[in-house]
Amino acid sequence: MCGIIAYHGPRNATEIIVKGLKTLEYRGYDSWGVAIKNNDKDFTIKKIVGKITESTDVDGMPKSNIGIGHTRWATHGGVSEKNSHPHLSNSGKIAVVHNGIIENYQEQRDFLIKQGFKFESETDTEIIPNTIEYHMNRGYDFIDAAKRSLNHINGQFAIVVMHSQHNQIVAIRKEAPLVIGVGKKEFFIASDIPAFLDYTKQVIFLEENDLAIIDNEDLSIFNFKENLVVNRKTTSIDWDAEQAKKGDFDHYLMKEISEQADVISKVVSLPAKQIKDIANEIREAQGIFFVACGTSAHSCMNGMYLFSKTAKTHVNFCVASEFEYFTHFLNKKSLVIAISQSGETADTLAAIRVAKERGAKVISIVNVMGSSIMRASHKTILQGAGPEICVLSTKAYTSQIAILSLIAHELAGQQEEGRSKLKELIRYIYYLTSKAMRDHIKELSERLRYTQHIYLIGRGLQHPTALEAALKIKEVSYIHAEAYAGGELKHGTIALIDKGTPCIVFTSDRTEKEIMSNASELKARGAYIIGVGPKNNELFDFYIKVREAEDLNSICQIIPMQILAYQLALLRGCDPDKPRNLAKSVTVK
Ligand code: M6R
Repeated sequence: MCGIIAYHGPRNATEIIVKGLKTLEYRGYDSWGVAIKNNDKDFTIKKIVGKITESTDVDGMPKSNIGIGHTRWATHGGVSEKNSHPHLSNSGKIAVVHNGIIENYQEQRDFLIKQGFKFESETDTEIIPNTIEYHMNRGYDFIDAAKRSLNHINGQFAIVVMHSQHNQIVAIRKEAPLVIGVGKKEFFIASDIPAFLDYTKQVIFLEENDLAIIDNEDLSIFNFKENLVVNRKTTSIDWDAEQAKKGDFDHYLMKEISEQADVISKVVSLPAKQIKDIANEIREAQGIFFVACGTSAHSCMNGMYLFSKTAKTHVNFCVASEFEYFTHFLNKKSLVIAISQSGETADTLAAIRVAKERGAKVISIVNVMGSSIMRASHKTILQGAGPEICVLSTKAYTSQIAILSLIAHELAGQQEEGRSKLKELIRYIYYLTSKAMRDHIKELSERLRYTQHIYLIGRGLQHPTALEAALKIKEVSYIHAEAYAGGELKHGTIALIDKGTPCIVFTSDRTEKEIMSNASELKARGAYIIGVGPKNNELFDFYIKVREAEDLNSICQIIPMQILAYQLALLRGCDPDKPRNLAKSVTVK
């Protein structure tokens, strides 16, 4: 939620920042802005409402070695130029970009107004440069004033500040992501690594309450909670700059859907020892809870079915935002398994915090190395799915299910069998993303493009598949899609089924009899039935054949649905990579 990029070094900061913002746009695209430090010691500011387009160039913007930029997902204050970042202090000398929420902003704003400060925007951010200025007016230097400001600001935030008459950049992290890219005599600060991956793979993950000062070629880090200067190690990232680009694809969504065979082969090569270790933790725990949000929550639901069937292990599942209402069951023997692509989702982090307060152990499955969830967990399995840029989660989802299936097999004493099953699937996944499949689904998307509602049903493992397929369709094509466990529709929602209502029915050998009887109930009301599964049926008006893969049906059956969502988005003129109102990492509760 909101993307930050800053640069300090010998290259043209403007170019790096604009390019970085284009890469970070998946974090928010209501508006964007940059502040570039001029040689004559003031800033050039550019703020634009809307997405930073491919064509945005830096012509007319000054060349400089220091600058900050921001792409916004609006929280406090509407989408407007004046609410866009960077925000300046009253004197215009301090510029700030911010991701997160300042909880006490109203109080601090009232205080500053009493001191004579004026505010132009409706944002919580504007109090930050002015609080720093307030301290500078009282005689503190820039760095000290920035440090002192933190005593007046509560909330979760990542902040980058610069001053027009100083050569320093200050970066502050408190419960919102911020990484530093370390180049040769240059530094990058960003919300996410892909923003500077073209220039360096050496990164420093700031810890909670770190305040980093970049002063020409020097970097120093001060932890404001511990009140001491700290050393943070530099880590080498194995992501490739090309992985974070669209390559020959028109959209990240289709690129990432197509990468799923490779992603599964990454899971196949996870060390057996690591899977064993996690399975041992599960065996030893008394009370296991899966927590996550959105698509990752659907992975958890898959995990619940997989653990129950394959590993005969009971797990509880709770969406992360509701977890705090169940914590009385947690104790030192409980195990919480948190799943997150970004590793930054605020609700999931909050659930982890509550679990740890109660003494529970936390294991996470995350895709982003060094992320907050990874650092808050006792142990982590890194998904290795590579950067997922599209706001829709696709390859991260199938990789999470593959990992859960490996763990379930290990719990059943069959890790190698689990690995072989995944391996066997890889070639088939290539087929599922092939042109033949895409063309077939195109026919369906043309039939569905003007529809207003789609209902989806599945039983067993096909239930989370139906939920995930509905989420994909909704978030990118804006068609209302609602998913149910097969048996549930007749308990109320069937009232909405009318002549021609599209209903997607996910089948499998194990659930065929029951789900087909649910399909007949829909057909009897005139529904247009789309079957997805191993066997065709006379009830189907449209059929997508997906071969039987038993426990791995969820991986196979979701792929055609991801493609359907993509094609519906294209036909309906929606942006497949940046759906309206959404952001990739949801870093606010
Ligand atoms: O990064 P996370 O996996 O924690 O993100 C959780 C959800 O915000 C995310 O899956 C969201 O639902 C996606 N837009 C789904 O495509």
